[in-house]
Amino acid sequence: MAADIPPFNSSFAYQNTLPPNPQWTYGQKITETPEGMAWMKGEEEGWKVVDTAKEDKFKLYQLMISGIVPRPIAFVSSISESGVENLAPFSWFNMVSHNPPLVSICCSDGPQRLKDTAANIKATKSFTVNIISEPFIESANVTSVDAPEGVSEWPISALTKEKSIHVKPARVKESAFSMECELFQSIDIADPASGAHTTTMILGHVKYIHVRNDMLDERGNVDPAKFRPVGRMGDITYSRVGDGFRLTRPAWAKEQETIEKAIEGRGDE
Ligand SMILES: Cc1cc2nc3c(=O)[nH]c(=O)nc-3n(C[C@H](O)[C@H](O)[C@H](O)COP(=O)(O)O)c2cc1C
Repeated sequence: MAADIPPFNSSFAYQNTLPPNPQWTYGQKITETPEGMAWMKGEEEGWKVVDTAKEDKFKLYQLMISGIVPRPIAFVSSISESGVENLAPFSWFNMVSHNPPLVSICCSDGPQRLKDTAANIKATKSFTVNIISEPFIESANVTSVDAPEGVSEWPISALTKEKSIHVKPARVKESAFSMECELFQSIDIADPASGAHTTTMILGHVKYIHVRNDMLDERGNVDPAKFRPVGRMGDITYSRVGDGFRLTRPAWAKEQETIEKAIEGRGDE
């Protein structure tokens, strides 16, 4: 660890601020503010264009995981057919739909075989997804160790198994938001050039959600200031959720006249 890195800032707290440019109006170019000008000035340095078919696979991985950020992390608990428990983080993760309630996770293949998580979910059809908060990120991170098949990551992490109500794999008690999932569909992904299997995409049907009461605001939403969820950036970097800001989503019916007036004569440059 580099000596010049400051310690973790534990007094940092999530807050809502105004958006970056509260005066922005329909059709306004970003170069109309000094910050926008500075942003676009960087473009004068030109572009690196990557042909994915020709790029080295590891470099492509590094570039994609640093550009597609921040990513939520699914902390997945699963069980093998013979009953070996498994716990591992996956940041190629997202919500797919709320109706039905589906989530996706993608497991790239290990060196010789499917990762245990993918093999377990294919075999036993259920898992839990637990969201990681700052207080237990080290315990969660350690479960990404490439432990041999048959070794459970639970004791290494010292995290607590909490019995699920619907599926066999436990949920993580330290997580303030957990989902009990049944396998909805698994999709095998192959390299189109070689035909070799590379990745398994898992769609999970969320059957039960467990959310800690103390995380909820008065509207029943999870409050980011209390939740302190951890995201994944590039390389081995994690992110915290810092300032948030709210922007209303414009409704055409209400805004049409203002929008049309604002962009009149501006054209589609
Ligand atoms: C924060 C984080 C996110 C990760 N995301 C993924 C991912 O989305 N897909 C993947 O295949 N591996 C991912 N990994 C690596 C797996 O966690 C790692 O390969 C783990 O050993 C897999 O465990 P398993 O073989 O027990 O399933 C990630 C690792 C970390 C630390």
